[in-house]
Amino acid sequence: MQDKTLIFPKDFVWGVATSSYQIEGGVKEGGRGESIWDVFCRKSGAIHDRSNGDIATGHYKKWKEDIALMRDLGIKAYRFSIAWPRIFPTGREKANQEGIAFYDALIDELLKNGIEPFITLYHWDLPQALQDIGGWLSRNTVKAFALYSKIVFEQYQDRVKNWITINEPWVVAELGYKLGLHAPGLAHPDYAAIVGHHLLLAHGLALQEMRNLATPFFKGKIGISLNLSPVVPENNSKEVDRRAAKQYDEFLNQFFLNGLFKGCYPQKLMEDLSGIIEPNDLEIICKPIDFLGINYYSRTIIQGFDTQEGIQGIIVSLPNAYSTMWEFYPQGLKEVIENVWQNYHPKEIFITENGTVLDDRLEQGKIVDSKRIDYIKAHLAVLYDLLQNKIPIKGYFVWTFQDNFEWSYGYQKRFGLVYTDFKTLERIPKASAYWYGNVSKTNSL
Ligand code: FCB
Repeated sequence: MQDKTLIFPKDFVWGVATSSYQIEGGVKEGGRGESIWDVFCRKSGAIHDRSNGDIATGHYKKWKEDIALMRDLGIKAYRFSIAWPRIFPTGREKANQEGIAFYDALIDELLKNGIEPFITLYHWDLPQALQDIGGWLSRNTVKAFALYSKIVFEQYQDRVKNWITINEPWVVAELGYKLGLHAPGLAHPDYAAIVGHHLLLAHGLALQEMRNLATPFFKGKIGISLNLSPVVPENNSKEVDRRAAKQYDEFLNQFFLNGLFKGCYPQKLMEDLSGIIEPNDLEIICKPIDFLGINYYSRTIIQGFDTQEGIQGIIVSLPNAYSTMWEFYPQGLKEVIENVWQNYHPKEIFITENGTVLDDRLEQGKIVDSKRIDYIKAHLAVLYDLLQNKIPIKGYFVWTFQDNFEWSYGYQKRFGLVYTDFKTLERIPKASAYWYGNVSKTNSL
């Protein structure tokens, strides 16, 4: 790690990210409809600590306090997601004014405090009513997403300049529909590609709606966030591992990047999707975006198996993991960005998520999470180097602002800069929160 001060470009965006289901709680308040995560959490064995997002961090009530804390720390941008079931309790038909008003007030409060809002339209909390008609296996959900995006954009485009259509479509497809580890908990080998395609189509149609609606005053940007990761075989001398890693990379990375930037998919996936892809779909999907959001945590190590259905790959976790979940591999961020830049050339890049989970302990009123500081520092150093090579990286968002509901892990995984006491809902900034706030204030580290 360098000793010198790294000074970032003066308009570099320093932010934190969250998502609605992971923080809001208040699931029955404000006319919100049920989401697939409300339902999935009730399924026995689905969530490790048997919890759910009913209360989460209580952000639905404490949002003003949260914004004040961000401001006091010196954070300049906030990426949050809109809960679709708050805007359309049944996914479509009638919009819920109370839901619209909640985010309206949140946006105003952010701006009043000098914090730039970044909206994610879909961070996984699909209205259950849409799941009942097939969820992302159905084109009706795709159409409903376009309508929902239009309504939300209409409401907030006057104040919100940065828009992300969908967060990590791969996770929805793979974990939600192939492995059954996320809502809606379906597990069928053929579903992942279909869902991946429909999510990209939903992105494309929403983009179209938003571009059509944008007033001459809208000077903002619209993009999408992908979870990208270099895929490597566990044992490079084993052919089955190498082949499995190649195949894994095709869906995790190339499917989404090629779809969005080239309007095609890797050949095998193109074949799998024959009969699903309709004329014009790919054209809609590959309309230019203003930026690519990259979520990066670690690399992906794959072990391969020969099965009757062909090669299968599974992710191997390294025993000496730095965090309680993933390997520390900042080099992977460089690999991912260089690949994206050389092969797809997005206009701009934002790192829309990066961070680490640690076993944070509250001791004498403090949390000294030095490893989180080191983790972020190492990844920022990578960005700094890439910026010297003129790659247009425009901002960075730590995942996440506060410890929250980490999907199937429940409340057992702490990723926050701010510690959440889940009994009292008290927020206590960790050492990393002060450190990162200072990076943001001084634009350097
Ligand atoms: C990403 C998700 C985010 C959070 C982090 C740890 O895949 O977008 O909601 O779960 O991982």
